[in-house]
Amino acid sequence: MVKKVRKAVFPAAGLGTRFLPATKASPKEMLPIVDKPMIQYAVEEAEACKIKEYIVITGKSKRAIEDHFDVAWELEENLKSKGKNAILKEIQQLAQHQFAYIRQGEPLGLGHAILCSQPFVKDEPFAVILSDDIIDPDDNLLGDMIKIYNRHNATVLALQRVPKSEIHRYGVIAGKEVRRNVYKISDMVEKPKASAAPSDLAIIGRYILTPDIFNIIQKTPPGKGGEIQLTDALKILLKRKPVYGYLFEGKRYDGGDKVGYLKATVELALKNKGVKDEFKEYLLSRVSSIT
Ligand code: UTP
Repeated sequence: MVKKVRKAVFPAAGLGTRFLPATKASPKEMLPIVDKPMIQYAVEEAEACKIKEYIVITGKSKRAIEDHFDVAWELEENLKSKGKNAILKEIQQLAQHQFAYIRQGEPLGLGHAILCSQPFVKDEPFAVILSDDIIDPDDNLLGDMIKIYNRHNATVLALQRVPKSEIHRYGVIAGKEVRRNVYKISDMVEKPKASAAPSDLAIIGRYILTPDIFNIIQKTPPGKGGEIQLTDALKILLKRKPVYGYLFEGKRYDGGDKVGYLKATVELALKNKGVKDEFKEYLLSRVSSIT
């Protein structure tokens, strides 16, 4: 029988160097998009798929993440006394889930960060959500991936087509489309040159993994950048077991990159009831003056 996906891992121990100095003392995952930190969007995505156990991989200067999802008595009392009930409810909901935090002593790579979650994931399948890859909240990428996992009882990676000029920033797959937007993966390469990329299908920050990945990561040597790469471990896995890719055609923003982060801010602000009208008016007034 296929085991249910009940747990989600949020790797958040990276240094976030592309966002320095903002990330010197505060986590990249806490950078807000409009009024919520990136990691909250990620948690809400898991929540929408009825996943209830969250494991955050943290490192130095990441305490703010724990505080964000914890009870805040003083703040709550203050909001209560001022009758700010709507925001009070929102704040209280943040502390209602089961979180576990694991420190990754050194940022040795995404593969290593995932290995750190093993004591909590144990022998279950699990979702991995990279909070700096922002998926439009109206899309249901993770839900669609879980359906594919349930059908095949196998690892599923999210894919997106990316232009040649950006391909060197991603893990890239070779594979065969077996159903609409579902690929059986035959090979993958981490951050290839455009000329060496096996396709334009890049791996993006959502994964449904099975627990057999842990033993493989343990034996995976450091790869690109001296880090233990998840892509390298997945490459070993696909020699032993089928690995599927799901081509996501919705909207994604690379929140780990400054321009991607700004795009996400604009797009989500244009969807936010509280600010969209005024913001749209402002943007329109600016467009004519940008040269
Ligand atoms: P990135 O490749 O975006 O790295 O990691 P980064 O350190 O966050 O940012 P830059 O490139 O220095 O600007 C992708 C995800 O994997 C996590 C990060 O926190 C991010 O969510 N990660 C990466 C870890 O948890 N541990 C690591 O050792 C590396």
